[in-house]
Amino acid sequence: MHKICSLYIDNQPFQFKVEGDFFWGKPELLYVNKDNVLSKMDWETEGFNVVKAFEGDEFFRLQNSIRTIIIDALIENGVDTDVSTFKLKDYHKFVTTKELHNNVINITRNLEVSDFDFDIDLLAKRFGDILGYELTSWVEELQKSHIQIRISRPNSLDINPPHRDGYLSYWEDIVNVWLPIEGCNEKSSLPVLPESHLLPENEILRTESKGAKINGNVYYVPCILETKAGPIQMIRPNPKEGEALLFTPFLIHGAAVNQNEDVTRVSLELRFPKVKS
Ligand SMILES: [Fe+2]
Repeated sequence: MHKICSLYIDNQPFQFKVEGDFFWGKPELLYVNKDNVLSKMDWETEGFNVVKAFEGDEFFRLQNSIRTIIIDALIENGVDTDVSTFKLKDYHKFVTTKELHNNVINITRNLEVSDFDFDIDLLAKRFGDILGYELTSWVEELQKSHIQIRISRPNSLDINPPHRDGYLSYWEDIVNVWLPIEGCNEKSSLPVLPESHLLPENEILRTESKGAKINGNVYYVPCILETKAGPIQMIRPNPKEGEALLFTPFLIHGAAVNQNEDVTRVSLELRFPKVKS
């Protein structure tokens, strides 16, 4: 059935239609306090923080490789792209239909770490040093690393619903990493609901996995419609280029609407499992 998801991002109301069956959970807390990847952080209660991710030219090399990947995906779809002048933030000027965007996403969805110009293990080591736990980029249950480009055109519903990755078993004991690549700012950056990893399930109204449809797209993660406190009040931590947003997979995040008028947002998402000791 159709519902309207109403939420606030930095106090600004936002609504979109979601299709799905929604239910309140049991009185249980899924976030494990003991020996959690955030346990040693003084920001564990907030559930997220912005940290430095890259040094020297590392960020620009990664950004440039993503630009190349997207240009290749455009060319593969018959879009006439001038390699020397194309800017990621102008993506929406070339990709003007949902169908074409989906075709591009189908390519960028299946990339591997080796397609990008950056050292994922160095990043895992850096964040592990910050958190005080050893991290790896290898996801045992999936037998691969996770790397995903997210592209959101202005004035579009190129978004995930508000959700928690931790509902999926392979994302329970990881740290989420969100990296701004281009066009990420106070109007487009990933929203989070602070402290929401500490909400028990009976305070969350959600769908099952693969149970929510927005704008015709089915999402893997359950959609969270509201909490016991009412509509979700999200904020945008807005990390700068070269920085990363780290957060627990149980933090409610998503609904990253791009409210820029004429700038496409491109970000990169990684997930680093904690090495079992
Ligand atoms: Fe997510």
